[in-house]
Amino acid sequence: MTEGGGTRVVRTRAELREALASARRPVGLVPTMGWLHDGHRALMRRARSENGTTVATIFVNPRQFNLATDFTRYPRNEARDVAVCEAEGIDLVWAPPVEEVYPPGFDTTVSVGAIARPLEGAARPGHFDGVATVVSILFSLVGADRAYFGQKDAQQVMVIRQMARDLAIGTQVIACPTVREPDGLALSSRNVHLGPDQRVAAAALHRALMAARSAWEDGERSADRLRDIMWETLTAEPLAAPEYVSVADGVTLRELDRVEGPALLSLAVRFGETRLIDNEPLGTGDGTTPRA
Ligand code: PAF
Repeated sequence: MTEGGGTRVVRTRAELREALASARRPVGLVPTMGWLHDGHRALMRRARSENGTTVATIFVNPRQFNLATDFTRYPRNEARDVAVCEAEGIDLVWAPPVEEVYPPGFDTTVSVGAIARPLEGAARPGHFDGVATVVSILFSLVGADRAYFGQKDAQQVMVIRQMARDLAIGTQVIACPTVREPDGLALSSRNVHLGPDQRVAAAALHRALMAARSAWEDGERSADRLRDIMWETLTAEPLAAPEYVSVADGVTLRELDRVEGPALLSLAVRFGETRLIDNEPLGTGDGTTPRA
């Protein structure tokens, strides 16, 4: 952003605006809730490779937690997160207090329609309102040309794309492939809460997705059969409590009877108090390309 600048950390909206006033364009944004891992690092690297200035935000957004306990329990370590941003060459970090994002009197909710209703929207009422509201504030404050999100949260990406399109926000929403541990577990800030046995058991999410993918590759087109394959793989793991498995249309996220076009396999599973999600696109390459 500035020659030889290093990473600057700012807290207020005014500081953010001032820091961005002379930023080299294009500006790439990586919105995060902190507790940064290699998945975030991959987003940051992609952002750096495509933009003149990179901005990361670190904000645990209270409005997207449908359970207060989940918000309190969310892992936080700002010093470590800033060190990650420095190591990845991020120019600017916005790490605001709550009142800088939601100033006194704030009274607007961005509520996306049909794409936000099933799956995570049904399981976590209000979650996507919170996500769409905070991301529209971030897009607007940063004025980013591009913003980077992980495909692990596939529905979130679709909700944000819909929001940006509908509100005529010019930020291009870029989805990046899910980063996984060697046993297939998708990287997530929530993985830190897994005990050692739960951590081993959590590989069942990816196993279930891969079992269904393999059946689909062998020609299985019945969505119920694919759901059964995922459910059976998950329930074979005693520590896993599956919440849902889904075989949905890859564009609308409506549950399918038969998989004849682009589709999304997805699931949510509890291990004790920790809830994990994952997904696998079918018939759409790596699933990170926007479909109009
Ligand atoms: O994916 C996340 O970490 C959050 O939902 C996001 C996009 C940063 C909004 O708070």
